[in-house]
Amino acid sequence: MSGRATVVVTRRLPAPVEDRLRALFDVQLNAADTPLDDAALAGAMRDADALLPTVTDRISAAVLGTPGRRVRIVSNFGVGFNNIDVGAARANGVVVTNTPDVLTDDTADLAITLMLMVARRTGEGERLVRAGAWTGWRPTQLLGSRVTGKTLGLIGYGRIGRAVAARARGGFRMKVVWHDPFAAGDDPDTLGGGRRGSIDEVLRESDVVSLHCPATPETRHLMNAQRLAEMRPGAFLVNTARGDVVDEAALVRALRDGTIAGAGLDVYEHEPAVSRELLGMDNVVLLPHLGSATEETRAAMGNRAVDNLVAFFDGAAPRDRVA
Ligand code: 8YV
Repeated sequence: MSGRATVVVTRRLPAPVEDRLRALFDVQLNAADTPLDDAALAGAMRDADALLPTVTDRISAAVLGTPGRRVRIVSNFGVGFNNIDVGAARANGVVVTNTPDVLTDDTADLAITLMLMVARRTGEGERLVRAGAWTGWRPTQLLGSRVTGKTLGLIGYGRIGRAVAARARGGFRMKVVWHDPFAAGDDPDTLGGGRRGSIDEVLRESDVVSLHCPATPETRHLMNAQRLAEMRPGAFLVNTARGDVVDEAALVRALRDGTIAGAGLDVYEHEPAVSRELLGMDNVVLLPHLGSATEETRAAMGNRAVDNLVAFFDGAAPRDRVA
């Protein structure tokens, strides 16, 4: 195109990424760093050539169908793109890209963090110390569950699921069992882990279950009351994927009734709202969607989103096109 493309960025990004955007485009940054509402998103669709949104922006069919729309590409900051109606994007001829690969390791690290935190009751321990209520060491205090040598079940065996598996096998000698209808091949380990034919088999076999599937209509409430009941009574659920993969009300009941032993959550069904019941439970660890939250990864995600815009406006195929 002739002249510089106009790009609306919906949230503050790491400074080097914002500097790069300023150098390349006529960029409208969001100094207030608050999520844009539908009216503001529609305004951006009319006034800009490209939109760079995040998980907190709902790019709905209505937004994509804004009369007088000028935006031709939505370059999402994030690998998950369930915040964007990709069907409507396709129907409206709007290109959509995401930011895979660069966040795989940090998100896998956070899944392992949650597994260890919930199994070893570290949240409870920290609350005890901070409350000034720790009266001293004793042999039976805050006993958790061993992770080393146990079985880890993965629902979803893509980039992040495999990175979690590698950490669990190499670091904790865990047997890793997994199910993913879309993953090719197998990755058997000497401990008898590997692919399983159904989610239910994974749930029944695992001491810890970690979710690594995308949020789609098919995976909504994949972990419902029945599936939670298939988990072992002493098992833990870890979710670093998307909140609505879990029926949060059913999870609350399963935790309260002892159907499962605990949960480590980084994402929530109605984010940023968290079920009031979860807030009061000691057997859950609750994090504020930190999966990719490192300096290194957030800069890399921003640069990947910018790379996709650069390719598009150069007339090349953006590397990470998803619609
Ligand atoms: C981001 C994520 O923090 O990439 C994803 O899918 O969930 C996180 O890495 C978030 O999506 C940013 O938009």
